[in-house]
Amino acid sequence: MKKDLLAIKDLTRAEIEDIFSLASQLKVNRKTHATPLRNKTVGLIFEKPSTRTRVSFEVGVHELGGNTIYLSSDEVKLGKREAIKDAAKVLSRYLDAMVIRTFSHDRLLEMAGFSSIPVINGLTDLLHPCQALSDLFTIKEKKGLDNVTLAFVGDGNNVLNSLLYGCGKMGVKIKLACPKGYEPDKKILKEVGSSAELYNKPEDAVKDADIIYTDVWTSMGQEKEYQKRLKAFRNFQVNSKLLGAAKKNVMVMHCLPAHRGKEITDEVLDGKYSIVVDQAENRLHVQKAILVKLLK
Ligand code: CP
Ligand code: NVA
Repeated sequence: MKKDLLAIKDLTRAEIEDIFSLASQLKVNRKTHATPLRNKTVGLIFEKPSTRTRVSFEVGVHELGGNTIYLSSDEVKLGKREAIKDAAKVLSRYLDAMVIRTFSHDRLLEMAGFSSIPVINGLTDLLHPCQALSDLFTIKEKKGLDNVTLAFVGDGNNVLNSLLYGCGKMGVKIKLACPKGYEPDKKILKEVGSSAELYNKPEDAVKDADIIYTDVWTSMGQEKEYQKRLKAFRNFQVNSKLLGAAKKNVMVMHCLPAHRGKEITDEVLDGKYSIVVDQAENRLHVQKAILVKLLK
């Protein structure tokens, strides 16, 4: 049976550990590893912009010996030019796997439900599992995953929802500080139970944390809310003052793209505690491991 990667909750801890161990091998042997995707083609269907996800998947597939086809929303027009299920069934006859970046999570579920090939979630409004998996891989590389606390400051969005699932699975404690009305998905919070703790003030969330993580205040598709969000999030910036309330060697993570001067200052993003570029690089290695596992 085909296997998708739609949400981290669908993976076991052992499966995640397997992905991480393969990702480490692929990272070390980047130029010499095998090419298990030879004669395979992966479709990249992106209804929102992307730099990291698109490029890391394209490069990753090529390094594994396969081909990619990038389809923007202008081409496929899912659900407009034709029904999602028709596109899903037909694309399944041409391709070996699909990465989909779209708006509502239901669109992704519909594509996956009608596809006979593995479907990988490249971000929806609800979840960003490839991001959170590679973030946990980065944390594992830098600190190990035992007795680690991650503080998330900012918007309870797709990235945080996936971090909640990922941290829950891997035993990482996660402390959140989000403005009222911008908390993560209630159902997910309930599902992950005591691995997540909610705080009102960023200073309280970051105290004793090993990692401070943030993401944009206005995600793709929410542009009309920009001004309203600026106001709501003004006390939730990751800046030097906030780092002062954290442990001495705290690490700073951001999925990127960043809105500099908004959720994070230049000083912190470019500063010595920031690991955002290593974090972005790992998207490549972890997604290659995911592809190998799903396509084998
Ligand atoms: N972090 C991330 O997914 O970046 P892109 O939106 O550039 O793909
Ligand atoms: N929350 C952001 C993540 C981008 C990688 C967005 O959805 O735009």
